[in-house]
Amino acid sequence: MDTIGQLHQTIERLTSPGRGILAADESYPTITKRLADHGIESTEENRRFYRSLLASTPGIGEYVGGIIFFEETLGQKNDDGVRIPEACEQNHIVPGIKVDKGLVELAGSPGDKVTQGLDNLGDRLDGYVEQGARFTKWRNVYAITDRTPSRQAIDANAEVLARYAAIAQSRGMVPIVEPEVLLDGNHDIERCAEVTEAAQTAVFDALRRHNVKLEYIILKPNMVLPGQDNPRPSVETCAEYTLQVLRRTVPAAVPSINFLSGGQTAEEATAHLNAMNQADGAKPWVLSFSYSRALQNPVQAAWKGDPANKADAQQAFLKRARLNSMARQGQYSPDMEA
Ligand code: 13P
Repeated sequence: MDTIGQLHQTIERLTSPGRGILAADESYPTITKRLADHGIESTEENRRFYRSLLASTPGIGEYVGGIIFFEETLGQKNDDGVRIPEACEQNHIVPGIKVDKGLVELAGSPGDKVTQGLDNLGDRLDGYVEQGARFTKWRNVYAITDRTPSRQAIDANAEVLARYAAIAQSRGMVPIVEPEVLLDGNHDIERCAEVTEAAQTAVFDALRRHNVKLEYIILKPNMVLPGQDNPRPSVETCAEYTLQVLRRTVPAAVPSINFLSGGQTAEEATAHLNAMNQADGAKPWVLSFSYSRALQNPVQAAWKGDPANKADAQQAFLKRARLNSMARQGQYSPDMEA
């Protein structure tokens, strides 16, 4: 199959009705922190056990079309000796891979970060394809303060994100494009909207400059919310702000927008997604999820690092994924949590 055929097939699978994406691609420091929150040690065996538990949850393929992994997982096997990417395929899930190499200070722009990982990216992707990965993720971050993000941070990050997306598509891999405006801070919702609009505008300008085919990307944005230290307006208000920014910035050619959860609780992230899918007005894209914490927190709480809790952990994952699948269709209500 040529690269366009591969992109087409993968995007169809990732965006099929009722489904979203699980981000299980935490780097070593991040997974260590997440597991420690539940008293679990981040050993190689625990990471293998846990991520294969996610990938092989019975029935999860109805709600989750893709899982993003960290490099380590692509080479690991589940308890039956099946490689985890292969186990995903058996469960009707497309395996993906986070390909950026994390954040560094943006020189000349105090307080801003830029994402690295473009060097040798094409060669690395060829290796990931060999291992079974069919799509990729790259994350930029933008912290909101009085002085950040700067104009140069917005432009520099857009440029690397677009170069990454072009390289991924050249290898037949669907790029998830993630410009994340962070939730930390005491800014109001208008400021989050203004920064998110500026970041996404620059990203789509850069994608166009680099001839990225918008039909074969997934946008993974933050929702528009006030800073963590401020009270939240209603779920509907947050949904309206988010939709307004998306309508202003995201071309209708983009098939799917899969939100990150960004530090919201599991229930909040589901309710916000549901409100956007229920809202009136133009929405030319699928609106779905690509959560990490909002899907995995309840799973880790049920697992507790004990293999005996595997079935309970898989039940917790199934429940959260099913509720988010309802939200993706605008059919969730909080009483379904019970
Ligand atoms: P959260 O849903 O926890 O924000 O993680 C999404 C993600 O993959 C960040 O890159």
